Order: sequence, then C-alpha cells, then structure tokens
Amino acid sequence: MNTTENYHVKDLSLVEQGKSNIQLAEERMGALIGIRDRFTLEKPFRDLRIGMALHVTKETAVLAQTLTAGGAEVAITSCNPLSTQDDVAAALAKEKVRVWAYKGETAIDYRTFIANVADTKPHIVIDDGCDLIDHLHTKRQELLVDVIGGCEETTTGVNRLRAMQGEGVLRIPVIAVNDNNTKHLLDNYYGTGQSTLDGILRATNILLAGKTVVVAGYGSCGKGVAMRADGMGAQVIVTEMDAFRALQATYDGYKILPMHEAASIGDVFITVTGNRHVVRLDHMRRMKNGVVLANSGHFDVEIDVEGLRREASQHYQVRPQLDAYVLDGRKIYLCGEGRLVNLAVAEGHPSEVMATSFCGQALAVEYLVKNRGKLVPGVHVLPKEIDDLIARLQLHAMGVTIDAPTSEQQKYKTEWREGT
Ligand SMILES: NC(=O)c1ccc[n+]([C@@H]2O[C@H](COP(=O)([O-])OP(=O)(O)OC[C@H]3O[C@@H](n4cnc5c(N)ncnc54)[C@H](O)[C@@H]3O)[C@@H](O)[C@H]2O)c1
Repeated sequence: MNTTENYHVKDLSLVEQGKSNIQLAEERMGALIGIRDRFTLEKPFRDLRIGMALHVTKETAVLAQTLTAGGAEVAITSCNPLSTQDDVAAALAKEKVRVWAYKGETAIDYRTFIANVADTKPHIVIDDGCDLIDHLHTKRQELLVDVIGGCEETTTGVNRLRAMQGEGVLRIPVIAVNDNNTKHLLDNYYGTGQSTLDGILRATNILLAGKTVVVAGYGSCGKGVAMRADGMGAQVIVTEMDAFRALQATYDGYKILPMHEAASIGDVFITVTGNRHVVRLDHMRRMKNGVVLANSGHFDVEIDVEGLRREASQHYQVRPQLDAYVLDGRKIYLCGEGRLVNLAVAEGHPSEVMATSFCGQALAVEYLVKNRGKLVPGVHVLPKEIDDLIARLQLHAMGVTIDAPTSEQQKYKTEWREGT
C-alpha cells in the first residue's frame, strides 16, 4: 500500500497504466469532455470542495478531472470494497485528487475512507448507494451546514434517500441523477446489461448459448441483462414481484416464474432487484449441480451468501472472483463474492454509457451550485431540458444528427383545433 495524508492506494507503480486507461475512457466520453472544456473556461466550482463515493474506475476519473477543471478540489473513495481499479486510483493520487481506495478493501478501511472524504468538509457530495450521505447524517451532522447539496448515482441510493426524506431526516437537497432518462434508461439498461454478462463470463468463461438464465428483477437493469442474455442464445426466465413489470417481461417473450420454481431449472442466476435475500438457502437447496450465482444489484445482500457460507460442507476459491460451495452434495459457483459482478469481476459499464451518466453528475453539481440556497432539503430531479441536453451532447459526440421540427410541426403539436 502507498499512503500519505492525501491518498491510500495499492500501488503507485501502476500510475502509467492508470493514465493510459483514463485516456482510453476520455476518447469514448466525448459528451463529458465537451462539458469539461466549458468548465475549464467558466470555473463554476472555484473554491468549492467536492467529496465523492463512487466506483473508482477510469470513467469516474474523467468525472473527477471534469470537476477539477471547473475549479473544484475533489476527494474520492469507492462505494464498494471490490470495485476500485487500482491503476486508476494510483493515477488519481498523482493528480490533484485526494483518493482513498483499493480493490479488496476491508470493512474497516471502507468505513474509514468514507470518513476521510467527510473530513475534507465537502460543499457538494456525489454518492453511489448513499453511504457517504448516510455517514454525514448519522456521524458528522455538524458538517451538513456547509453542504450545498448532493447527487445520487443509483436506484438503491435514491430509494434510501426517499426513505430518509419520508422519515423527515434528510437535511440537504439531493439530485437523483439516476432518475435522468440519460442515466437509468441507458446506464442501468445497456450498461448493466452488457457489463453484468461481461463479469460472469470473465469469472466463469461459461457458454451462455443453450443455458437457462434466471434474471431476478425486471427493472431498468434486469431488462438490459435479460435482453443481452437472450441475445447470446440463453433461455431467459424472469422473476418479479411487481405485476406490471412481470407483464412487461411476459410480453417481451420471457417466462415468468416464482424463484422457488425457477431455482430447480436455471443454470445461471443473476439478481438485479435492489432487494434483500432474493436468492435464499431454500432456493439454493433446489438448484442443479454446477449452477452459477451472480449479483449486479448495488449491495451484496441479494444472494444469501452468509447462509451459503454457513451451510456449505465445502468451500474453495476456484480462481480470483470465483468461489465454489458444496451444498447438499451439489456445487454452487458464486461470482465476485455476491458483490456487483460487473465491477467486482469486470470493469463496470463501458465508457460510452458512463459519459451520459456522468454528464448528469457534472450538470447536477452545476445545477446545485447555481441554485445554492434555493432548493429545499429532499430528493430533486434535474429539469427535463438538462436531460435532453445530455442526450444531444452524446449524439453530437457520436456524430449523429436528428431532425428538427418545422414551424408547421411546432404549431401542430400545440394546436387542439385540428382533428379528424
Ligand atoms: N451493477 C451496476 O452497475 C448497476 C447499475 C445501475 C443500478 N444498479 C443497481 O441494480 C439494482 C436494480 O436497479 P434498477 O434500476 O433495475 O431498479 P428498479 O427499481 O428499476 O428495478 C428493480 C426491480 O426488481 C423487482 N424486485 C424487487 N424485489 C424483488 C424480488 N424479491 N424478486 C424479484 N423481483 C424483485 C422490483 O419489482 C423492480 O421491478 C439496484 O440496486 C441499483 O442500485 C446496479
């Protein structure tokens, strides 16, 4: 480990690899780079400190650079003990970013690093899963007076924030960046769809064609995972609790079953619900020999890994990020310890998709700063124009042109007299 008061990273000799990976991400994040260029000129975050708890990946590094280009001092830790890319953390440590993160953090280090970010007394917090905002509200309330606001990246974090708001304990305005169309309909869908399978394939190298893949949860993420598994030739079964989502999955051509029934049929099980103990021991006891379990939901609570560890007669590591457990004489493979498999085992979402997610973060920070003192504590969404702007920036970066309404069409859209 390499440690100073400004960083704690695994290995500073990885700096050049980290820089090279960050450059690769930059080349695919044109929309965000456009915002970075504007921030460089306008310096909207001069004299502001931004604290982040985000997966420390090459794309997050581009976001951090975008915010520092805007004049901010940035401090970062990860929002998951297994998701840090150590080369990227090393490269950030060599820039003017304070970074505490390494892949495989202990529970104590994870908490300490969140506390370190809080200690930098951030004016803006960017969270992914709500652990940093939780920390400020439960352990460092005195710091909240100087916090202008926060931004939340993921569904689970937004759910936690809405629960805090419901109990009347949320004391700052927080932008639910996840709720941007350019976030959950792109990142959760295309990003999680592809990168979850990437993680499972890197862990197991399994052939998906011909397998039965059980996807638990048919939200934005589950839809993407099901679509990609289907595209690779798997038979997809979906489990759901929400009637409408179950209906959508049925009309999309998937079989819907309760997990209890799907358990004895599936070859690969993927949880993406944001819920707890979706795959339980009673399900695992019904599974076939050699099944693969993976989770891509935010926290490692979706598969009852603790129960599996306790009840298994044998456990060994097959290779990094793939464990085998023997339960009732049958083997169960678990990817990435049940932590989100796309980041624990693979590299997270592709940069293109993170470009729009992180345009959302960058513009949400700008929105908070511009509206300083005007937003009440609670969960806010960005105005639709900002979401639309992000889509336009990304299309522009990709060289895609779309139609503009003619004046006749513009008029027609707002006219009620013209009918049959
Ligand atoms: N891996 C990643 O990179 C990544 C990216 C984005 C979001 N996420 C996380 O993935 C999770 C899902 O996100 P989302 O945007 O799809 O959420 P969502 O709310 O759109 O969908 C979740 C779905 O799961 C269903 N569900 C809940 N409990 C269930 C159960 N016991 N069995 C079956 N279905 C159940 C819900 O009815 C809902 O339809 C969240 O934890 C989110 O934070 C992960």
